[in-house]
Amino acid sequence: MTSLDDQAAAILRGNDRGGYTVPTAGLYPFQWNWDSCLVALGWATFDMDRAFTEIETLFSAQWPDGMVPHIVFHRPDPGYFPGPDRWGTHRTPASSGITQPPVAASCVRRLVEAGDAQAEARARALFPKLLASHRWFHTVRDPDGTGLVTTLHPWETGMDNSPAWDEALARVEIAADLEPYLRKDTGHVDPAMRPTKAEYDRYMTLVQRFREQGWRHDITRTSPFRVADVGTNCILLRADSDLLALAIRFGEHEATTEIRAWIDRAGPAFAAFVDPSTGLWHSYDRVSQSRVPTPTSAGFLAFWAGLGDAKLVSLVEPWHDRTSFGVPSVRATDPRFDSKRYWRGPIWLVVSFMIAEGLREAGAGALAERVRNDSRTLIERAGFFEYFDPLDGAGLGGPDFTWTAAMWLAWIRPGP
Ligand code: DGY
Repeated sequence: MTSLDDQAAAILRGNDRGGYTVPTAGLYPFQWNWDSCLVALGWATFDMDRAFTEIETLFSAQWPDGMVPHIVFHRPDPGYFPGPDRWGTHRTPASSGITQPPVAASCVRRLVEAGDAQAEARARALFPKLLASHRWFHTVRDPDGTGLVTTLHPWETGMDNSPAWDEALARVEIAADLEPYLRKDTGHVDPAMRPTKAEYDRYMTLVQRFREQGWRHDITRTSPFRVADVGTNCILLRADSDLLALAIRFGEHEATTEIRAWIDRAGPAFAAFVDPSTGLWHSYDRVSQSRVPTPTSAGFLAFWAGLGDAKLVSLVEPWHDRTSFGVPSVRATDPRFDSKRYWRGPIWLVVSFMIAEGLREAGAGALAERVRNDSRTLIERAGFFEYFDPLDGAGLGGPDFTWTAAMWLAWIRPGP
């Protein structure tokens, strides 16, 4: 093993809290949904048993309606806000009340295809839970059967303060009775790399409103923030296809019919994301009933969903104009680009991974390799940071970040 291989494995082990891995010590001291699933891909490179445990632990917090929460508070930690009291979901184990992009089925498929009979048995045991989580998305978050699922909070997208949410979030009126709060994130990392107070007031307003409504399903209709996130929908479509492959593998015939119906419904609905004048994919604001104005790298997850066409391939290179590394979350030519602030320009390697894998599958292997090479250079120069400045490659956010280490092990490191 090279020393970076060793360092990456040591980061996973160091952030292991017993059955789950924290994204990074301090800033994120609990189990996060999409982090854990993607981190399982890293564990699988040297400990398949531990990889499955990561996902099983996450699903131990699945709600009876099928939702998999975005944070599971396995044990108390005063170093993070908002904690379980603020969410008020009254679950065991304690959890938040919103979800995150559903990468689980795609990760489980990768594990089972790389694993042995033991992996097969554990994936089979997870299958009903995965199916329930997809059914939750396609019913609770798409109650009218439109083919697009709705996101109710920027944190559900995993891309918290992306400029894609600026307009939709600005419409959220900060609650006059907003409970006072003390942020903890800005005590761990430079505030210039984190969301602003105006954004946080709105994040907390949404949490407070949903809690007051008892986390009932009708928040899908009443939330002032309702967006069909291009990232979440592309990730869900890919996960539906991977779930279908698992259903076929396990002989789950009834499930295949249900999953195929979800996939069929998505196809025509996804046209809403595409700006016909540029070919770029944008999220769709359900409140204003229009595409959000700012395109972000989430639009390139169309490749991960298997839907990126030649036109979209031709837009990947220009997206890198004026940056030294890809794939920036926002194009540097965009007035809202900020190379250091959370989701407003920096690079996340998990997003790069999904885009590159999708590009490879779409036949754009050279472009996929460029993304992978850039990702390797970033880690080699800066280390295993949470995210990276696309202009100078500086490491930003939390250090020794688990999913960055996992991407090194599962995707980036040189090798066959
Ligand atoms: C945070 O606290 O920054 C998280 O992204 C919310 O999930």
